[in-house]
Amino acid sequence: MRKKIIAGNWKMNMTPSEAIALIETLKPLVQTDEADVVFCVPAIDIIPAVEAVKGTNIQIGAENMYFEEKGAFTGEISPAMLTDAGVKYVIIGHSERRQYFAETDETVNKKVKKAFEHGITPIICCGESLTQREQGVTIDFIRQQIKIAFLDVTADQAKTAVIAYEPIWAIGTGKVATTEQAEEVCKAIRACIGEIYDEATAEAVRIQYGGSVSAASAPELFAQKDIDGGLVGGAALKPDFGKIVNYK
Ligand code: PGA
Repeated sequence: MRKKIIAGNWKMNMTPSEAIALIETLKPLVQTDEADVVFCVPAIDIIPAVEAVKGTNIQIGAENMYFEEKGAFTGEISPAMLTDAGVKYVIIGHSERRQYFAETDETVNKKVKKAFEHGITPIICCGESLTQREQGVTIDFIRQQIKIAFLDVTADQAKTAVIAYEPIWAIGTGKVATTEQAEEVCKAIRACIGEIYDEATAEAVRIQYGGSVSAASAPELFAQKDIDGGLVGGAALKPDFGKIVNYK
């Protein structure tokens, strides 16, 4: 059985001191043995956040990472910087990074491989636009994103990956995908992993749904066969995140 994984994506919110205060508020609310709980926080919050979650079930993740080891890449953060700081997960290829920071399927693939090389679990984001959904090309588009993201990734690595299916039209809009829409795409992603690798890899990989997840929508979404948890934006900054983690 796959363990659920519920991750918060804080985006560009919370100064270091605000981050510590939020973690103190959320700590008692997100206790569970049934799911992995991850807070993906802004880079500058990582070090105080790792300190603040010591002794709890919370893991700290990053929201981005560069694909080179080190050097003249002003403003970027390397995988070794993240691991040395105590980071276990990194969000790769969020739609906001693709839209505003020109990330492509190719850079996503480079970052995914680099994260695995350093023992960081990537949370690999994919998702269609409203136009793509309306034109009926959602599954084709997502399959392309997945196939390129996993180029030259081994089956053993892929088994430990987390994939976040986030329809762009559902992010930050309050428009959550229907349970059927979310399950249909997550199932197709698992089938695609099965085609690239094998049945065992498809069964092992964890697939999250993201996009306006709330305490109200989480229980039904997370009960779907192919949905192994969520990537949560807005609601991850509120006590509601505790209800999402303990959704049962
Ligand atoms: P949202 O964000 O929950 O605020 O829609 C999700 C995400 O972008 O990861």
